Amino acid sequence: MKRIFASLLSMLALIASGIFWYGNQLGSPLPADMGKTAGTTEQAADQSDQIARGAYLARAGNCMGCHTTRGGAAYAGGRLIASEFGDFASPNITPDKKTGIGNWTFGDFWNALHNGKSKDGRLLYPAFPYPSYTKISPGDAQALFAFFQSIPAVERQNQSHALRTPYDQRGLLAFWRALYFKPGQYQQQPAQTAEWNRGAYLVTGLAHCGACHTSRNALGASDLNNELGGAYMPVSNWYAPSLLAQEEAGVQTWSATQLSQLLRDGISAQAHASGPMAEVVANSLQYLNDSDVQAMTVYLQSLPKVTKPKADILDQAIAGQGIGKEEMERVMYLGGALYKAHCVDCHGDSGRGAPPVYPALQGNASLQMTSVANPVRMVLAGGFPAATKGNPRPYGMPPFAPTLSDAEVALVISYVRNSWGNKASVIGASDVNRYRTAPLD
Ligand code: HEC
Ligand code: HEC
Ligand code: HEC
Repeated sequence: MKRIFASLLSMLALIASGIFWYGNQLGSPLPADMGKTAGTTEQAADQSDQIARGAYLARAGNCMGCHTTRGGAAYAGGRLIASEFGDFASPNITPDKKTGIGNWTFGDFWNALHNGKSKDGRLLYPAFPYPSYTKISPGDAQALFAFFQSIPAVERQNQSHALRTPYDQRGLLAFWRALYFKPGQYQQQPAQTAEWNRGAYLVTGLAHCGACHTSRNALGASDLNNELGGAYMPVSNWYAPSLLAQEEAGVQTWSATQLSQLLRDGISAQAHASGPMAEVVANSLQYLNDSDVQAMTVYLQSLPKVTKPKADILDQAIAGQGIGKEEMERVMYLGGALYKAHCVDCHGDSGRGAPPVYPALQGNASLQMTSVANPVRMVLAGGFPAATKGNPRPYGMPPFAPTLSDAEVALVISYVRNSWGNKASVIGASDVNRYRTAPLD
């Protein structure tokens, strides 16, 4: 018996080391014709074009969003990225030779973006969205490299991450990779137009929309069977809605112009980009040219429409409580009074607001989603859309956390979720309270 157990154990160890080896070496080499590093003679001529293209692509990939701290030097790292595994500190990616990536070759850079490995062979955490960036083409990677070698070098020592055990064991990433990482460039779909392919390349690769909009498993791997199907952001407590489900931000049925406006300007008559989405617009999407925004719109609108499975409905419990008619009347009476006192000036008597400045609450899908995270956060903390060319002086919404109690916020949100034809579950004070202490970004 003992012997069987021992041989079973050694077999398991063998399998584990096999998986470990596989996860470690996983990746694909640099394409043969790309071995040259930037700066060789043929490339010098068009180097400034290459740098400009790289700068544009860095915007599309929002490298700034993670690699720059508020008020800090561009791309010098040090921004803390909170996650359920602990805090990641982004590294310095300026060309400083001591503390940045000044000594890196193009091959090293490719290996990071495409294969998730640092220059010294360390496996990188997928908090760096290389599972999406792996789709970046070698030509785009070269332009990005040229850009990052051209920016001012800033000396800033990398901090270490503050991760909880066992996530601080970098070696375990080998197993993670074996299970979840699929290196590979974007594959053109010949049946689709060039515009659609461009949109798909941006949405699923460089612009990594799925990093927030695709749900993840307990080990932080994206659920590729439900791409862009909506996800809670566990630390910031925002909900990135499904881009497929009609009950949420299913964009297939939006007007194409309004979707493009939302992405580029941050507001449209139909929707506002708030919180983390406003940051994506501010740091990245507003800089994209019209043809790229249009391509993303075409791709997003071609995605399959889905209906959210019933199991997803978190507050079925609340719906199941079967709020009686009298209780509902009480909610609508008290909630309506709060609405008149605090909200009516901007959102109007009949909830039609004054789009695009003050969003309509009537017929507003993001208000009626199963998850109330976003409306609750908006009422507690207020919010500003991104300042963009299309919306240079954004109007904000004031925070009500200082003036309204949890029960009052619950009443007014339940009221707007059930007025003017809106229909959604009634919420209680505890649904509000959990967001009181959420970080405000
Ligand atoms: C969502 C946040 C996020 C975004 C967006 C992001 N990065 Fe990073 N990046 C990180 C984190 C966190 C690490 C550190 C990972 C680790 O230590 O394992 C990292 C690591 C890197 C590294 C490896 C540095 C080293 O010293 O090993 C490079 C190179 C890099 N990023 C380049 C980029 C580029 C280029 C872009 C834009 C195309 C980008 N990053 C966008 C978070 C991000
Ligand atoms: C950093 C996380 C993050 C990334 C990256 C991200 N989103 Fe979002 N997105 C959110 C959150 C959170 C919301 C909900 C807040 C809101 O409604 O604006 C949202 C909302 C949206 C909405 C609905 C807006 C509304 O009010 O109905 C659309 C459409 C959208 N995102 C598209 C995209 C696309 C396309 C990309 C990639 C280019 C993207 N998002 C990248 C977090 C993100
Ligand atoms: C001073 C004007 C003003 C007042 C008062 C105001 N809002 Fe707003 N509201 C706004 C603006 C502007 C936005 C868009 C903010 C953004 O995009 O970040 C907004 C956004 C919202 C949203 C998110 C809509 C969406 O599409 O994502 C909700 C929900 C909301 N308000 C509810 C309320 C409620 C409930 C009250 C009263 C307790 C209220 N607002 C009071 C101006 C106001």
